[in-house]
Amino acid sequence: MRRVLAGVLATSVVAGLVTLAAHASPRAAADEPVVVVSSTFDDGTAQGWTSRAGEVVEPSTAVARSGTHGLAVTGRAQSWQGPTLSLLDKAQKGIRYDLSVWVRLAAGEAPTQARLSVERRTAGTPSYDQVVGDTAVTANGWVNLRGSYTLAADVDFLATYVELSSATASLHIDDFALSYTPLPPIQTDIPSVKDVLAAHFAVGAAVETAQLLNNHGQLLAKHFNSITPGNTLKWDATEPTEGAFRFTDAETLVAWAKANGAAVRGHTLVWHQQTPAWVFKDAAGNDMTATPENKALLLSRLEAHIRGVVGHFGDDIGVWDVVNEVVDENQADGLRRSKWFEITGLDYLRTAFRVAREVAPNARLVINDYNTNVPAKRDKLYDLVVKLRAEGVPIDAVGHQMHVNVQWPALAETEAMLTKFAALGVDQQITEMDVSIYTDNSQSYPTPPADVLLTQAYRYRDFFELYKKHAADISSVTLWGLADDSTWLDSFPVTRKDHPLLFDTRLQAKGAYWGVVDPGRITSTTTTTTTTTTTTTTSMTMPPVRCTVDYRVGGQWQGGFQAEVRITNATTTAIDGWTLAWSFPDGQRISQLWNGAHTQDGAAVTVKHASWNSALPPGGSVSFGFLGTWTGSNGKPGPFTLNGTRCVG
Ligand code: XIL
Repeated sequence: MRRVLAGVLATSVVAGLVTLAAHASPRAAADEPVVVVSSTFDDGTAQGWTSRAGEVVEPSTAVARSGTHGLAVTGRAQSWQGPTLSLLDKAQKGIRYDLSVWVRLAAGEAPTQARLSVERRTAGTPSYDQVVGDTAVTANGWVNLRGSYTLAADVDFLATYVELSSATASLHIDDFALSYTPLPPIQTDIPSVKDVLAAHFAVGAAVETAQLLNNHGQLLAKHFNSITPGNTLKWDATEPTEGAFRFTDAETLVAWAKANGAAVRGHTLVWHQQTPAWVFKDAAGNDMTATPENKALLLSRLEAHIRGVVGHFGDDIGVWDVVNEVVDENQADGLRRSKWFEITGLDYLRTAFRVAREVAPNARLVINDYNTNVPAKRDKLYDLVVKLRAEGVPIDAVGHQMHVNVQWPALAETEAMLTKFAALGVDQQITEMDVSIYTDNSQSYPTPPADVLLTQAYRYRDFFELYKKHAADISSVTLWGLADDSTWLDSFPVTRKDHPLLFDTRLQAKGAYWGVVDPGRITSTTTTTTTTTTTTTTSMTMPPVRCTVDYRVGGQWQGGFQAEVRITNATTTAIDGWTLAWSFPDGQRISQLWNGAHTQDGAAVTVKHASWNSALPPGGSVSFGFLGTWTGSNGKPGPFTLNGTRCVG
């Protein structure tokens, strides 16, 4: 990063702005959060914060979230005006930073929305990145805006700022922090996914430019031989205004792929989302209606777009998702009612494939969609592919996104999807796979439960076994992301932390990774929490895991202890009535037990369900606890058996 403004910044850094580490030093301990900037304003100064354009920013005792002072912002006239702090000398490229700030409106202001953003400039050209989106704020209390940000480009200006939907409201901020948590090194002593699967198909990950750097770049290079730009080839990124193409980020990804011997999947030329509004405006600038003139105009824009984008990359991109998500199984004709369809009918599909083939005669052209396992959708997609191919439309492959979860869909349904299209003789690709830990929108785990991660590991094992079985029909399998620290599922379909990929938030291999690479080594290991790293149950050999047991000593004192035991049914079959057995290693004796009935014979213990907790549904858990005595040492017991079957734990 160039630091053109470093001198200016240095003079504006004042006492009280704690700079513990201006740079991510490799010496910083992994997993220990490092606070780079903390602004409390309690020394009565603005601590480097300024206005963006003429509004007044000053320390204030009117309200403070902590200590004596906050920062008051008055005199705003534009929604983008607000307090700003330069991060140019603070943040490094390729490091994921956490930003947190507290916001409230000045007394008497009507409720509005606040955002936390970053402005960066490269060679003077500004870009604006959102760190935290619109969040309701009032004058009645403090609201925390908290998000993360990774700088991917060289910059000569970098600043964070708070803005409001209201152009004029006055506000206060307090307790800003910029921090990061250094990652441990990536594991170099484990097999590369791409090598393990080399005989079957290419293995890819969807990535953004920031993920080419540091540990992320190393992880990507080690395990993947294909990449899909997650956003940088979409229409809003490549042609935000008509005829003005922008390829900088996509070029960075393509150059990385070349240097690392990876293929590139171009995603995507035509979609109903992430397409700029101008595309669907008529010659007079109004929203297009379905007229012959508008149809001609829209198809000519489509053709120019594909010529511009595909032509730019030539043979550097060997596969294109030419059209994305065009099927709607709820329509009798199976076609999504997008603007593309409403204005051109099927012709946008014909034009897109024809032009793509003409411009990139060597590229594999894909029709890509989600839920292609759902029989009704699968069949509509199939019918569409048959119809278009019969007309000579050059569709080479069907892309199955495979955004699935730990329970859905069934393997049999997924296999039926593959066999259906295999009969057609088209190539197939798995294009966006992830396995959400959630099965409905109401769930949210502060940390992913070990048993859910275990189930996820088996799901990955089973899906990849299926893909291998059908490898003759599948040329690549791509995951929609690199590691759990960055996944679109954190904000879709609702905001919550998801963990759908092969590597955890610290970029370490999960059970899911072993499910793909070597199922015999699946372990159930929890991932990082915000403050500590906890490893609960580990171990065990497959196949198959039927149950897991989490045994925890909750308290221990001279001669006595208390323990909690949690049993999880890791099968897909309900268990009605359970007995758990184990052996104590150190002469411990149970004196009192709750939520079950126990017997003990020497070291051997059996605990039977109580009348109210006999049911263990698939994936479900029960817990019981006890008080015991010990002398000498109080080692963990094992092995555990549930109804005679050995458990993990
Ligand atoms: C997602 C990206 O991952 C997000 O960063 C973006 O905000 C929205 O789009 N199906 C697709 C992908 O075909 O393009 C989508 O990617 C995920 C669903």
